[in-house]
Amino acid sequence: MIRIDSVTKRYPDGTVAVDRLSLEIPDRAITVLVGPSGCGKTTTLRMINRMVEPSEGMITIDGVDTRKQPVNTLRRGMGYVIQNAGLFQHRTILDNIATVPRLLGTGKAEARDRARELMGRVGLDAALAKRYPYQLSGGQQQRVGVARALAADPPVLLMDEPFSAVDPVVRKGLQDELLRIQDELGKTIVFVTHDIDEAVKLGTMVAVLRTGGKLAQFAPPAELLSRPADAFVEDFLGADRGIRRLSFFPSDGLELTTEAVVAIDAGAEQLAARADLPYLLVTDLDGRPLGWSEPDRLTAGEIEPGQLLSCGRPFAAGRDSLRAALDCAVLSPSGWAVGVDAEGRAAGVVSQQAIAQAIRGAHEESASPQPKVLR
Ligand SMILES: Nc1ncnc2c1ncn2[C@@H]1O[C@H](COP(=O)(O)OP(=O)(O)OP(=O)(O)O)[C@@H](O)[C@H]1O
Ligand SMILES: [Mg+2]
Repeated sequence: MIRIDSVTKRYPDGTVAVDRLSLEIPDRAITVLVGPSGCGKTTTLRMINRMVEPSEGMITIDGVDTRKQPVNTLRRGMGYVIQNAGLFQHRTILDNIATVPRLLGTGKAEARDRARELMGRVGLDAALAKRYPYQLSGGQQQRVGVARALAADPPVLLMDEPFSAVDPVVRKGLQDELLRIQDELGKTIVFVTHDIDEAVKLGTMVAVLRTGGKLAQFAPPAELLSRPADAFVEDFLGADRGIRRLSFFPSDGLELTTEAVVAIDAGAEQLAARADLPYLLVTDLDGRPLGWSEPDRLTAGEIEPGQLLSCGRPFAAGRDSLRAALDCAVLSPSGWAVGVDAEGRAAGVVSQQAIAQAIRGAHEESASPQPKVLR
């Protein structure tokens, strides 16, 4: 465990960048440092690998004071990723990734093999291996940066706004990729961002810092959203806090009904039996949702998919959160959300009222224990 113990950083000009900060950074999890510009995030990160030395206090790793370790040994155990990737422009992608293993004495062929494997791991096409950084998109360069940081297989990854310079779509892809890699590799990651949504999505624990390098709150994201420590944190979390919090509640408690679901080849009797329902969900012959219709607009044997009202994006029943289910219901012309199984077949539908009830139940349950973490 990395332990930051009452650490202060005062730069020579008197600026107090970090003020008596204490954090216990859990192993094999993502801890996010978030806060406004200039609040001391980068300084904190750099104190962990001693690119910046604390003025007061102590940082320990597994109980050992970082000042008692040779800087090179310390940094070998810590991959470092920065905004714009910071790649060596005159080296190929493969050699960029192989840099650290080569410095540590790994043979060229072996280091390149490892680099190729890592390219796959971070979602880079092997065909890019021989290119130079300027021949890659910003998002691809960031992936190279992550691969390079992972190359020597360090237990710790320090990441300073690694995804800030790319557009929102690419950024989402990079975040998902990081979560996937983390599932596989279980690194101890300290991740700096000024984007609270990124913090909530990625963090197992989130430290909110305020200007002057003071800790405002250190908590799991669900707790941050439900119980911000003060007005600063609440303001920093921004709008829709309640809705965003629903991302942490699973949808597996929702009761789906199949009564309002019919296949496209439904017979007249089947339709007649459902004539009292306000809407029916029509599926294809494999059970995949096609769209909604009022029952009296459906004629057995003549159901046209083109005539149906869109059912939008269904939610993955039991795997998506209550937020996804609510979003689906709000956007649905029928006011009912469509739940699908892993194969995309309709598992059933659920009303807004039923979702609202599940939300109330989840709130009550979470009043004491922590809500289950769902991504
Ligand atoms: N070498 C330095 N000398 C003096 N002051 C510094 C130095 N480096 C950083 N600072 C100051 O310390 C404070 C914290 O800086 P830091 O870079 O840690 O902030 P940050 O949270 O990473 O900000 P950003 O989100 O803009 O990257 C700022 O007021 C900054 O101006
Ligand atoms: Mg910074």
